[in-house]
Amino acid sequence: MSTSATLANLSDDPRLSDPNWWRQAAVYQIYPRSFADSNGDGLGDINGITARVPYLKSLGIDAVWLSPFYPSALADGGYDVDDYRDVDPKLGTLDDFARLSTALHQAGIKLIADIVPNHSSNRHVWFQEALAAPRGSAARERYIFRDGLGPNGDTPPSDWESVFGGPAWERITEPDGTPGQWYMHIFATEQPDLNWANREIRDDFLKTLRFWSDRGVDGFRVDVAHALTKDLSEPLKSSSELTAANTGTDGFPDGTHPFWDRDEVHEVYTEWREVFNEYTPPRTAVAEAWVHASRRARYASPEGLGQAFNFDLLQAHFNAGEFREIITRNHEEALATGASSTWVFSNHDVVRHATRYGLSTADGKDVGGQDGKGWLLRGAPANEVDAALGLQRARAASLLLLALPGSAYLYQGEELGLQEVGDIPDADRQDPTFFRNKGVEVGRDGCRVPLPWTAEGPSFGFGEGTAHLPQPEWFSGLAVKQQDGVAGSTLELYREALRLRRELQGAEEIEWLANANPDVLHLRRPGGWQSVTNFGSDPVELPAGEVLLSSAPLQDSLLPGNATAWLR
Ligand code: GLC
Ligand code: CA
Repeated sequence: MSTSATLANLSDDPRLSDPNWWRQAAVYQIYPRSFADSNGDGLGDINGITARVPYLKSLGIDAVWLSPFYPSALADGGYDVDDYRDVDPKLGTLDDFARLSTALHQAGIKLIADIVPNHSSNRHVWFQEALAAPRGSAARERYIFRDGLGPNGDTPPSDWESVFGGPAWERITEPDGTPGQWYMHIFATEQPDLNWANREIRDDFLKTLRFWSDRGVDGFRVDVAHALTKDLSEPLKSSSELTAANTGTDGFPDGTHPFWDRDEVHEVYTEWREVFNEYTPPRTAVAEAWVHASRRARYASPEGLGQAFNFDLLQAHFNAGEFREIITRNHEEALATGASSTWVFSNHDVVRHATRYGLSTADGKDVGGQDGKGWLLRGAPANEVDAALGLQRARAASLLLLALPGSAYLYQGEELGLQEVGDIPDADRQDPTFFRNKGVEVGRDGCRVPLPWTAEGPSFGFGEGTAHLPQPEWFSGLAVKQQDGVAGSTLELYREALRLRRELQGAEEIEWLANANPDVLHLRRPGGWQSVTNFGSDPVELPAGEVLLSSAPLQDSLLPGNATAWLR
């Protein structure tokens, strides 16, 4: 009997064996080091998550996505992986992982693991071997090593910049102590890019996919899926030439960039799909690919990863017209490709949406997810945020998102209405984007602060010790315990929405219903399930029907501004 069949038998839940379980799943992202700490060392861990499976079950999600839990020095929050087939000893063991996998499946919840194929960490045994081996050796061929320019080779092979700031090349010292070659790192220095032209790398990742699939992992979230394959034929293009290739389509790479979104990357995913299909039900995947919308379908194709994140709503203003255009376009794209849509407002890389929607710019418009610097977002200074307005809008937007056809990706803490923590002292910051861009970026720590479970206690119930990132006092009032069973709380709003979503979910169809008010979006799903969002500030009339749930109390049966209601 295969592992998957064994696991499926653990639960009566038919969704566990349904090959299409992912199409409209509500997926809850856990950032393991900040979810729950079982042993009081201040760092969230696997056993902490296992202990909270009843919470996850009561929330009503279909799947959990775990951000990296692998051994790591945390140069990039775990996205610097030392060993792809192990659990960080600070987070637990493979046996702990097996218990978590069993507990989730028994609760009818699927398990998605984050996989980070573009780069390893500099502590990975491969990289250590590469440093110890000579130029031109097989060990160096697993990464991207080049000689430097100039008579002494002390100029980097190109003027490329890392996504986290600073140069994308780092010089090594050769085993004999002389200044040596340079290696490429699109992200932090501690994240050397792997060479995907090397068959050994490809085979090893196939092994990793099977390793976790055999341990009950139902799907994979693929980190920077659009960067793996590279064209590094000499001479390397200069940064300004790259900018040209990068702006092919509305500022996105058009396939000619040496490392972003090259067509050959899909050869990798065709092989991955063959591995996924060895399992019953097939393992699933979702690509993190910041590519032009017109090129997203390649990642989401059923012969490839099957699904790709659409970050369009995450980057949009809280605006009816923008939302409608994005929803329509992405839904149509999904229909055309056979994938299902993916909707996201928050994750471990961006400012929490309850805060984004409470920020104002000089022109009075609320700020969307992006500030023109790509996906590396600035922190939100607490004093510039209208937290109450942000939360109202976040609740409205989330209820709308949960009414859409396709998968809803939720980030830990949004069900509590958490705001971004804007005022983390510099000395406590961890994100490399902060260290590499001092004074410009505060980095992403503000959305990674450990969750508050109780109003009191050393780390608000996160654990017995001091949390690895400082939690603000106001976390107390937003703790799970404070909201549990409290009518109207954000936690209960999410629970009820997720429960209704399961009950009402039909085919992946959506129909827009006319509304004279341009600030109102009214949609209908099969079976008569309707969602109405008022993006404006004045109350509006609701259409006829039974109100099932609303993100804010109705006012004399009117839907207030910045609110969503579901009807039937
Ligand atoms: C992805 C991750 C981000 C990480 C980067 C490098 O974008 O979401 O957290 O820093 O890849 O691995
Ligand atoms: Ca711990």
